Amino acid sequence: MPWNPEQYHKFQAERSAPFDDLLALVDKRPRLKVIDLGCGTGELTRRLADSLPESEVFGLDNSPQMLAKADSVKRTGLAFKLGDQATLSGSWDLIFSNAALQWSENHQRLIGHLYGRLAQGGQIAAQVPSNHTHISHRLIGETAREEPFHSALRGFTRVSPVLTIDEYAQLLFNLGAQNLTVFEKVYAHLLENSAAVVEWVSGTALVPYFERLGNEKDAFLDIIQKKFRAAMPGSPILYPFKRILFSAQKPR
Ligand SMILES: C[S@@+](CC[C@H](N)C(=O)[O-])C[C@H]1O[C@@H](n2cnc3c(N)ncnc32)[C@H](O)[C@@H]1O
Repeated sequence: MPWNPEQYHKFQAERSAPFDDLLALVDKRPRLKVIDLGCGTGELTRRLADSLPESEVFGLDNSPQMLAKADSVKRTGLAFKLGDQATLSGSWDLIFSNAALQWSENHQRLIGHLYGRLAQGGQIAAQVPSNHTHISHRLIGETAREEPFHSALRGFTRVSPVLTIDEYAQLLFNLGAQNLTVFEKVYAHLLENSAAVVEWVSGTALVPYFERLGNEKDAFLDIIQKKFRAAMPGSPILYPFKRILFSAQKPR
């Protein structure tokens, strides 16, 4: 997908709060072999690396555009590579992922695969948005099903693969994991108006639509702006953003 680092960074302050919560779940031990899946532009991977002394940290992302920015934050013990998180190979003491696993399908299989890549005693710690029932997402799906967009998109609508907190807990338990922490949190963002929500989703949820819409992209965005204005009037507005955080350890 053609990720746009500038668009994504418009809400950097809001996006770093869940990262801080996720980082707090990490068992901080020295000399770990760590991978940050869907590391994006790498600033947060750098913060992760800086909190883990003498560790070897890799950021993995499948977007060359995002990784191009990550070059400026690499240092000894921190490197970045292009690849697909769903086919992760190697053995890791910490598999970390902030706001990226939702871009891979079938989380039963995905989490099972990632758990299999953990070394004995290793930890998986991840954060995924669970905001797909918010009105913004419902309006995007509704608009995608309307013409001329339905045809331009060849019937595509994005269905979130994110599970419920109960399902992540059960899945991790079934895999044999220990020290489970699974919770969902509402990040109560105060945004200027509905146009700011459009800006927000333009950096994330709309990316797979923009990729497919071709000449209809501007018309689609125009309708989204109008619908968001009607659904989220006034200024400022509350943009309640739900996210799931989970952490678990593979027994030694
Ligand atoms: C919302 S951004 C999160 C970036 C960073 N982790 C952060 O917290 O700012 C999602 C990232 O996941 C990456 N991504 C999406 N699908 C991926 C996949 N299958 N494998 C690796 N990275 C992927 C995107 O390129 C993007 O950089």
